[in-house]
Amino acid sequence: MRRLIVVSNRVGPLKDGGKAGGLAVGLGDALRSRGGIWFGWSGEKSAKGTFGEMKVEDHGKVRLATIDLTPEDVEEFYAGYANRTLWPLLHYRLDLAEFDQRFENAYRRVNERMAARLMPQLKPDDMVWVHDYHYILLGERLRESGFSGPMAYFLHVPFPSPEIMTALPNSNSIIRALTAYNVIGFQTDTDRRNFARYVVEELGGSEGENDELFAYGRSFRASTFPIGIDTESFADFAVSDEAKEHEAQLKVLLRDRQQIIGVDRLDYSKGIPERFRGFERLLEDYPENRGRVSLMQVAPLSRSDLEAYSELRSELEELAGHINGAYSALDWVPIRIMTRGFTRRALAGIYRASRVGLVTPLRDGMNLVAKEYVAAQDPDDPGVLVLSRFAGAVKELPEALIVNPYDTAALARALQQALNMPLEERKRRWQAMFERLKTQTAQTWCHDILSALEERADKGPARSTVPTASGRPPNALTPKRPKEPVVAKVPGTPPAQPQRPAERRGALSSLRSLFL
Ligand code: G6P
Repeated sequence: MRRLIVVSNRVGPLKDGGKAGGLAVGLGDALRSRGGIWFGWSGEKSAKGTFGEMKVEDHGKVRLATIDLTPEDVEEFYAGYANRTLWPLLHYRLDLAEFDQRFENAYRRVNERMAARLMPQLKPDDMVWVHDYHYILLGERLRESGFSGPMAYFLHVPFPSPEIMTALPNSNSIIRALTAYNVIGFQTDTDRRNFARYVVEELGGSEGENDELFAYGRSFRASTFPIGIDTESFADFAVSDEAKEHEAQLKVLLRDRQQIIGVDRLDYSKGIPERFRGFERLLEDYPENRGRVSLMQVAPLSRSDLEAYSELRSELEELAGHINGAYSALDWVPIRIMTRGFTRRALAGIYRASRVGLVTPLRDGMNLVAKEYVAAQDPDDPGVLVLSRFAGAVKELPEALIVNPYDTAALARALQQALNMPLEERKRRWQAMFERLKTQTAQTWCHDILSALEERADKGPARSTVPTASGRPPNALTPKRPKEPVVAKVPGTPPAQPQRPAERRGALSSLRSLFL
């Protein structure tokens, strides 16, 4: 079995001390069985202001390897290109996306440096799996350095339509880098479709059968692999002592009242203001809920140095203050916001004590909170999930009450329906969702992607099977050139290194040797 090399911005945790999410659980299992390395950022800034040394921690066959970024990289790569350019863009928020050449240069620089640090650790028959929007370019950099083993990429967030994606300056040269991977995974068919459209319409590529795509003489598979949770373990968390303690505490506080729960990183993609407005409308339109139903919002702070995030925090505090001011009673407060985090066992107990799980992102790759809320429920008295149509999870959880979070009145109606749903209907809806979540887990997700990658590696050099007039694979020798320059120069900043033709040829030939 090939060793697995995982690259993601955040690394670990490897052991489940109650903190590991779906990603860490799935990857942890795969890494332990295959042996390998999990490589990424330490979360720290390097003291000397230079790219840090690799810090390693060995856990049996698995090595956690991290690097400190320079303060400049944290500012321009992480806070800049990753979180002020790509994050809003990929979540359809062109209004918030900032296009700054310094950020793009830093993105290219950090991807290149990380690849250079990883390269000496790689063995020829390793398989590499890169995660998320921070490291789109890393695979291409590894190919250029001569790595020819199988590589997968998984995008945890949405991939918007080409109409949005093309607003990104130099988008072709960024997205083209994905063609260096053999398998590219997306959360939903919509994301996959958007990517395939980009490849065909913007990169001049073409589509084959069985999710195969062709561009720049490369053939690769782009498929949908919805990420799951460790469903059975999360269900077990919900009956752990820690969960029971939290559930009991809440029940004492609530007495015979009902609670609606929201749990999200404090992020503008999560639709938290829309959620508060929907709840306010519930109190307005269905006054019997005043004094009877409260909303608890757990929202750990995230990326709080960025303006969009601090503004969101102020907006939420103002909104909650306004609603609480208007509706509070001596013994009841409508909305509680908590920015502290909870362990996953504690959260499972909190979910179980809440009659409604309210998940209202305006755009979300998957949303694992929706899945965890379902997994934590008491089978004999399950709560109701109210879920945004814009969460990737909606495809697997159609028995939830599906809402458009922009439609405040409809959101209030769905909450009213959830709060009054008869036990039999709650059980029926919950059962269908829980059964599905038991078969599509974090482990099956990981297994499916790695099997797809193994399969492509076993097939040996991939050849185009799509007939063309010339008999050559489409675009094999005549890739449509990116419409814009690969790198723009900005006075006073070191230019990112454009690929020289000779390097490009070298990269392509190392690719051809294995995959074409
Ligand atoms: C999303 C992204 C992850 C990211 C996480 C937390 O889930 O898909 O890649 O790690 O948010 O964001 P942060 O910026 O704190 O790493």
